[in-house]
Amino acid sequence: MSDAAPTTIYLKDYTPFGYLIDSVHLTFDLAAHATRVTSRIAFRPNPDARDRKFFLHGEQLRLIRAAIDGAEIAPEVTDEGLTANVPNAPFVWETEVEIDPGNNTALEGLYMSNGMYCTQCEAEGFRKITFYPDRPDVMSTFTVRINGDLPVLLSNGNPTASGQGWAEWTDPWPKPAYLFALVAGDLIAYPDQFTTKSGRGVELNLWVRPGDEGKCAFGMEALKKSMKWDEEVYGREYDLDVFNIVAVDDFNMGAMENKGLNIFNSSAVLASPETSTDANFERIEAIIAHEYFHNWTGNRITCRDWFQLCLKEGLTVFRDAQFTSDMRSAPVKRIHDAIDLRARQFPEDNGPLSHPVRPESFQEINNFYTSTVYEKGAEVIGMLKRLVGDEAYSKALNLYFDRHDGQACTIEDWLKVFEDTTGRDLTQFKRWYSQSGTPRISVSESWDSGTYTLTLSQETHPTPGQTEKLPQVIPVAFGLLGPNGDEVRGTQVLELTEATQSFQFTGLAAKPNPSILRDFSAPVILDHGHSNADRAFLLAHDTDPFNRWQAGRSLAEDNLFRMITQDSAPDGQFLDGLLAVLRDGDLDPAYRALMLQLPSQSELASTLYDSGHTPDPLAIWTAIETLKQATAQHVQDLLPRLHSESLVDAPYQPDAEQSGKRALGNAALALTTRLDSGTQAAAEYDRANNMTQQLASLACLLRAGKGETQLSSFYDQWQHDRLVLDKWFGLQISLASPDATPAVALGLTQHPEFNWKNPNRFRALLGSLATNHAGFHHADGSGYQLLADWLIRLDPVNPQTTARMCTAFQTWKRYDDKRQALMRAQLTRISETPNLSRDTTEMVSRILDA
Ligand code: BES
Ligand code: ZN
Repeated sequence: MSDAAPTTIYLKDYTPFGYLIDSVHLTFDLAAHATRVTSRIAFRPNPDARDRKFFLHGEQLRLIRAAIDGAEIAPEVTDEGLTANVPNAPFVWETEVEIDPGNNTALEGLYMSNGMYCTQCEAEGFRKITFYPDRPDVMSTFTVRINGDLPVLLSNGNPTASGQGWAEWTDPWPKPAYLFALVAGDLIAYPDQFTTKSGRGVELNLWVRPGDEGKCAFGMEALKKSMKWDEEVYGREYDLDVFNIVAVDDFNMGAMENKGLNIFNSSAVLASPETSTDANFERIEAIIAHEYFHNWTGNRITCRDWFQLCLKEGLTVFRDAQFTSDMRSAPVKRIHDAIDLRARQFPEDNGPLSHPVRPESFQEINNFYTSTVYEKGAEVIGMLKRLVGDEAYSKALNLYFDRHDGQACTIEDWLKVFEDTTGRDLTQFKRWYSQSGTPRISVSESWDSGTYTLTLSQETHPTPGQTEKLPQVIPVAFGLLGPNGDEVRGTQVLELTEATQSFQFTGLAAKPNPSILRDFSAPVILDHGHSNADRAFLLAHDTDPFNRWQAGRSLAEDNLFRMITQDSAPDGQFLDGLLAVLRDGDLDPAYRALMLQLPSQSELASTLYDSGHTPDPLAIWTAIETLKQATAQHVQDLLPRLHSESLVDAPYQPDAEQSGKRALGNAALALTTRLDSGTQAAAEYDRANNMTQQLASLACLLRAGKGETQLSSFYDQWQHDRLVLDKWFGLQISLASPDATPAVALGLTQHPEFNWKNPNRFRALLGSLATNHAGFHHADGSGYQLLADWLIRLDPVNPQTTARMCTAFQTWKRYDDKRQALMRAQLTRISETPNLSRDTTEMVSRILDA
């Protein structure tokens, strides 16, 4: 880390690099504490660049030798890289450096995990491997030779030669350095193969540590499904002879799309029915698809600079969401995504960390792999598709692949293919990329002898650095229902482009009921101005599954809101509506399970804050508990039937149908536990033969303040399995009572299995603390203090994971004065820590400054 004052990088300052690279040859001589990296790079002047300064990034490298065209030189080296005088003509650059993967705890660059070498280079990790122009617009083919006495030696591309103790790989596709990867270890292959639609045979391997072979089958199937789907839906074929995936236990993120050699956090790829929940399986399927889809959206077409990150991430998240919708239930996926966006992206976009989908400046790019860039970035693509239609979307994508294959692109390039395909002017639409904040839509309506008029207004609150907001293009999917619940106008897309705009519907026999923002057609906050009677009507009749769910959600939210702010009681309108939905055996079990899920504590905190209240975490927790108890009583007679409907007789499958049934059954079990104080849950625990059942029944018991014996037998059963042990740590903290949460978390930090340098374990413990809303916000500040203690401890070891977890404090200004002061004190304490990383410094100062 450098102690220099942080520098800010601006999008407007972009200039191309002064040199192009024709080829890169790398040789690795592996040794835990003294790996030698020799590079031979063919540079030539870039005719499109004006600035010919020769600067190569390089951090934490010991330079041994540098040469140009064979002649040794002595470049000027700083903490950040080197400069040298180079010929104004093509030349061959060589360096030899030494690095220390064995002490690389930041898990960026080349590092070690359980004796295995692996890399993580996105965004700027390659500069910790060798001197290089570490920027995504510099692309080259790579040849890599690995010397090391480990049985498996992998890199990008195709294997081209090997012998005892060495292997050579050649990647024929030009790529930026962030897609470089190397893996070396004692690994076992789970092999398979795939034939592309044009007949190319591809060898597939999932590489794991001995003992994990039994957790590979599902991930491999997901890979093959992804390959086939991308051919069928986007016409994109795979382009190498091999595709390797490696599972690694120590990994900052979920997974990484390195060309031909994806590297995965083992939690994001390894799965078995005994050790993984249905939710784990679903996430694994999505993440394998995501990284595979990057082969075209990210790798073949990459980003010009890191400000364009949403070009690959937003698009690839959109593509993986389409895949999940096709593989599973589209409405359920859409509801999950809306819940997720509201839980993570809305608070980000309405707080101190708010930034546009394409940020305009940063200090540390790792801090911008955010929900805004990813999830809002994906929503922007969904809106574009809805506006232009499916056919134009396909044409535009084909044009994008044809026109830009092999290039490093910008959002302007992306939008241009849509303009050229459709003739549409996207100038106003482009504001979605530059304007931060969540638009709020308010609704008014009028009815006059057969004509219904809907008036929509949009407004976006000021965000850091942006006070004036302009109207955006908002596609509002919309339908009308008649008084008897029949649909009198099917779904159409209204284009809201002005601050206020009216839409008229004529020739109607009776005053209709509007269904607005169907399918969650835009990432906005919609204030319907609905009465609860309107909501109950939509809950009973809406033909749009998203809005039907939303109607139930709004009823629940309104009820909870009144319970918190007016001391109201649980209300019949919500409970009766819920009962009717639960009774409807024609509805997908997964969908009914979602109906039973109440808004989360933090979502309610946002709602309260948005309407001018100061959220009281304990009052929120109490209201939710009370409403759940009332729900259990209200639907009591139905619980045995829900339980039997959700029984799965067939052998365990993690598919949508079975997992939907289990979700409904377990939602029913949670309610039953409130009535029988855990008798049925204990029986279910004993009977469980898969992790979904085991964990769900254990959760019911812990929530009821029971389950001590089950918790310790769970530990005994699974102590050898890291991924299951993460669940054991997390569950206890997530389900601790508000008062006990910080103490439970503190106790677990003293457990011998709390290997805090492992990001999964750290997140299982401290991430669970941060997401237990009432527990984290304990009035005495002990939750804040515990998190801050551990962030301060982790920062010098792993800045990237530390900085991401600082977001737990991003909502601090929403709370009462006392909690604000307590959080501010912890944020200040973190910020004043000597030698704080650039990552954490930037996050904490942004959170504090707003
Ligand atoms: N390219 C990213 C991985 C990454 C993120 C590298 C941040 C460096 C810094 C990868 O494609 C990705 O987005 N992974 C996600 C999961 C995905 C399903 C959204 C992740 O790791 O969480
Ligand atoms: Zn990605």
